[in-house]
Formats: sequence, C-alpha cells, structure tokens
Amino acid sequence: MQDAGLQQGYGFQTVGHIDAGAGAARRLGELLARFAGEAQGGAVLVVTDPGIRAGGLLEPALQSLRQAGFAPEVFDGVCADPPDHVVLQACELARRAGARAVVGFGGGSSMDVAKIAACVAHPEQSLELAQLYGVESLRVRRLPLLQVPTTAGTGSEVTRVAIVTTGATTKSGIVNSALLADAVVLDAELTLGLPPAVTAATGIDAMVHAIEAYTSAHRKNPMSDMLAREALRLLGANLLRAVQQGDDLAAREHMLRGAMLAGMAFDNAPVAAVHALAYPLGGLHHLPHGLSNSLVLPHVLRFNLPAATEHYAELAEVLLPRAGGGSEARAQALIEHLADLGARSGLPTRLRECGIAESGLELLAREAMGQQRLLRNNPRPVTEADALAVYRAAY
Ligand SMILES: NC(=O)c1ccc[n+]([C@@H]2O[C@H](COP(=O)([O-])OP(=O)(O)OC[C@H]3O[C@@H](n4cnc5c(N)ncnc54)[C@H](O)[C@@H]3O)[C@@H](O)[C@H]2O)c1
Ligand SMILES: [Fe+2]
Repeated sequence: MQDAGLQQGYGFQTVGHIDAGAGAARRLGELLARFAGEAQGGAVLVVTDPGIRAGGLLEPALQSLRQAGFAPEVFDGVCADPPDHVVLQACELARRAGARAVVGFGGGSSMDVAKIAACVAHPEQSLELAQLYGVESLRVRRLPLLQVPTTAGTGSEVTRVAIVTTGATTKSGIVNSALLADAVVLDAELTLGLPPAVTAATGIDAMVHAIEAYTSAHRKNPMSDMLAREALRLLGANLLRAVQQGDDLAAREHMLRGAMLAGMAFDNAPVAAVHALAYPLGGLHHLPHGLSNSLVLPHVLRFNLPAATEHYAELAEVLLPRAGGGSEARAQALIEHLADLGARSGLPTRLRECGIAESGLELLAREAMGQQRLLRNNPRPVTEADALAVYRAAY
C-alpha cells in the first residue's frame, strides 16, 4: 500500500473538541458555556426537526442549557433535504431572538441548517445565504456553534459542508471553513430509538463517505485514509446489529463514532460519484439521502473498479479480512459484500421499487452532471452516458 499524499503534501483539519459518552447531551449547557465566549447567558438558537422534538429527545439538552443560564429558542421547522426557504426561516428566528450561539440537534438536515444559521445570523456582518454557495466563496464569521448528531450517518457534525435544496429539485453545496463546529457532542443514547430503516440508510451513507474518501482523486491523504479505514471497520461490523437490535448501546456507539470518523475523512478527502448520482434521487424523487446512496453504491463501484482496484482491495481487507485472491478478486468481493449489506439491512435495492419510472432515468443522469464539484473527485471520469448506464443498472 502506497501512502497517499506523499508527493504533493497534504493538509488536514477537523473539529477541535468532542464530548463523547452515553448521556453526554445532558451536559450540553456546560459545554456551550466553555465555547460561548461573550454569549454567556444569551439566547441560543437550537435547530431540530419536528420528529425529534416530539420524541422528547431534546428536552434534557434544553434543560441543561437553561441550567447553565442560556435561553434556548427552538427552531423545529427542519425537514429532510432542507430547502432554502426553511434555512432562511431558521436564520430569521435566530436574528429575531438575538441568538448569540447556535446548537444543531438532529440528523444531517438539522445540523446543516444550524451551520448556515450560525453564519447568516451573526450580528456583525451582512450576509445573504446566496453568497455562501460554492467552495470557500467568501470569508465569514459565525456565532459559536455546537453540533449534536442524532443519526449515525452524515458526519455533518465534523464537516465544513452544508447541503441545501435550491429551486424545486437541485441540491446545492456550501463548503466553507466557517461551518466547522466549535465542539461536538457524541451521545449514542440519542440514537437508540432510530427506526431500522433510518439506521440502515444513514449507516450506509456513512460507509459511502469512508469509501469515497479513500478513493478520492483529490486530497486523499494518510490521515483521511486512517480515519476512513477505522470508520469502515466500525460501521461494517455494527450496521446489521444496530438495525436489528436498535437498543444495543455498544452497537449504537460504534456506529456514531464510525459515522463521525467517516465525516472527518471525507471533509478532507471529498466524496465523489456515488454522492453525485445519489443527489438527483433526493432532489427529484425525495428519497432519503442514505437510501439514495445505497441504491447506486454497488453500480458506481462496479463502474469505478478498473480505476480503483487497489483501493477497493485495501478496503476489502478491512471489511472482509478473510477474502482471498488477488486485488481484483478482493475488490469484487468488497462490492458484492456492500450490495448484500444493503439488501440485508432491509433497504430497497432497485430504483423501480422506489416509485421511479424508467422514463425518468435520463433526467436523473442530466441532473447528476450538475454535481461537478463531486464528480471531479471520482477515481474514474463520469460522462452523462456513464451516469445513465449506472441508473439503468440500478433500475
Ligand atoms: N453536511 C454534510 O457533510 C452532509 C453529508 C451528507 C449528507 N448531508 C445532508 O444531510 C441530510 C440527511 O441527513 P440524515 O440522513 O441524518 O437525515 P435527516 O436529518 O433528514 O433525518 C431523517 C429522519 O430521521 C429522524 N430522526 C433523526 N434522529 C432521530 C432519532 N434519534 N430518533 C428517531 N428519529 C430520528 C428525523 O426526524 C427525520 O425524520 C441531507 O440533507 C443530506 O444532503 C450533509
Ligand atoms: Fe452522504
């Protein structure tokens, strides 16, 4: 195995503080007090979604904030694949409440909205959401930001990425250093009630982050490789257990840590064609992000195989240490194992099972071509015809 990034050198950045452990969310107030700077005792915007709030998960964290002297203001209007108008509502509430810090509490959707609100609602800068799209589009300031993931999936708690649905169907990315949180709370107790289908989809999303970071054509480096391998080991060994035995705290802890490590990896060695082809399934057909990834995963990996054999074979050693044969055979074994994992976790495996008409595949391929930010990281160039062939194979 050759060390990545040896010739070009590399940079690596991640979140500076993690508070991990069962029940850690009950210490949220103390933690915020450490990072809030001048915001001590001020209003705090807490960004979440209605399901999480109704489930009662949030209450102990809110209590902890109040005990530490903060005044939490809850925005629970987040929905899956948050559209820009929802992001703007959260920003507006933050401004109106005079929020001086922001907490994201939920899955990737809530954490992404929290990141953006922490920038847009900073009182000492005039910033429009539209100015943020793209990669490091400008230098911005943000309010103190804490992230509390309740899914083991996106790794958004440790990334500089936020994804917004713009217009009717397009998923647009913001990559900005300001989106990196001050601190993260990893509390696996919050994930014990995650339904099996969400556990499966979000867990496979995290595995894809690890795989795509490991094969990224840009910025792959020894740190991201190490994190991706450990993430894949944890996620691969615990996904089915977490799906089938949701109250297994150890499995949930491993999943949550694996998802975070995969987030650290892909934040520094960005994801590629699996995500590029998954996004149109979310945008046009509203499939959950993890399911979209899972549906195209084995087909994109088969397409990539000629350009990524060695890397896939290395990852096979992590997931399938007993797999024999040469690189090609081990890489194939990895792909079949991942296809099988999707099926065994109970997720649909075909686009046709998800209410998608065959006549819609061409539009999906056209939309996927809009994700050049991601496609450029793929180990093998992807044309529109290639994307269409992948969707056909997944149909
Ligand atoms: N910022 C990034 O780095 C990054 C990376 C990948 C994906 N994303 C984005 O993240 C979003 C997807 O996030 P997600 O997959 O975490 O899903 P999500 O945040 O949309 O949540 C999915 C569902 O799970 C429910 N849920 C969440 N936690 C729960 C819990 N503990 N118990 C019971 N129900 C719970 C929510 O209420 C919701 O209905 C997409 O918008 C995607 O584009 C962002
Ligand atoms: Fe993802």
